[in-house]
Amino acid sequence: MLIPLIGEQMQYEFNQIGVIGAGTMGSGIAILLALHGFQVVLVDREASILQMALARILERIDPTQHSEIEQRIATTVNPGQLKLCDLIIEAVYEDEEAKREVLTHLGGICREDAVVASNTSAISISSLAESLPDPTRFLGIHFMNPPTSMKLVEVVRGEKTADSVVRAITAFTEQLDKVSVVIRDTPGFVANRLLFAQIGEALRLLESGAAAKEDIDIVMKLGLNHPLGPFELADFIGLDVCQSIMDYLNKTLADERYRPGSILGKLVREGKLGRKAGEGFYRYTK
Ligand code: NAI
Repeated sequence: MLIPLIGEQMQYEFNQIGVIGAGTMGSGIAILLALHGFQVVLVDREASILQMALARILERIDPTQHSEIEQRIATTVNPGQLKLCDLIIEAVYEDEEAKREVLTHLGGICREDAVVASNTSAISISSLAESLPDPTRFLGIHFMNPPTSMKLVEVVRGEKTADSVVRAITAFTEQLDKVSVVIRDTPGFVANRLLFAQIGEALRLLESGAAAKEDIDIVMKLGLNHPLGPFELADFIGLDVCQSIMDYLNKTLADERYRPGSILGKLVREGKLGRKAGEGFYRYTK
């Protein structure tokens, strides 16, 4: 699909889109793209992870659309298959080193004119951009979970991101029926700066014995009209992802509000990672 930018020489055509990481977000982004008619190359490290991701994707869509969606999503463990993509979205673990490694490798594979984006929740886009040969074509596209139903996308402009790339990606998010906001690169952007200050406070209330987790969640839902309480939402995001985001924000902002605390750390160490693991703050039947 051609995204012309009036008054600018550069036109971006996003037809084939690569997604690296087939976890909660990568698989959700792949469905969103396929449902909007894009060809997707979905990359992960292991074939078994890709098989599970594809099964999860098909579970979430109407059976009448299965063959169409399957034709639009190619899965592979070979990142070399991204060489023809116009846009590549990185969605691996929320770990700066892991992301840098993926982006450095990608820099040697992708087309010179491809746009590269990270779905990071919090990590500096300007810092990740250093891993790529052309930082002007790199930015953050922060989809919310689940990408198919959440309306907002934070488009994060790194220090060197070209204006034309920001505009092309903003137009692209509109094609996906999203509403985007453009944000200057700052730790946690806007959504997670706000959200994790709140989750951090909920954790401290829990640790201090002020209230049970169920009651804290009830307060947020019935008293403040949030659709999910902080512990339900943390389970939905993934507790390992929450811990990584909070560690990053705590470190980069030197702000105690983002300290993950002992209860979250213990659950992560025990492998209780939230909904995706069947247990986190709460237990789930899959
Ligand atoms: P996840 O843990 O569910 O999935 C990560 C996937 O990346 C795994 O399948 C893993 O095998 C794969 N991976 C790791 N290293 C790789 C490599 N070198 N090459 C290819 N694949 C690799 O994580 P999740 O939740 O999908 O998060 C992904 C990104 O999206 C993170 O940056 C996270 O902060 C962000 N995010 C997460 C949200 C959430 O609610 N979980 C919401 C918005 C953004």
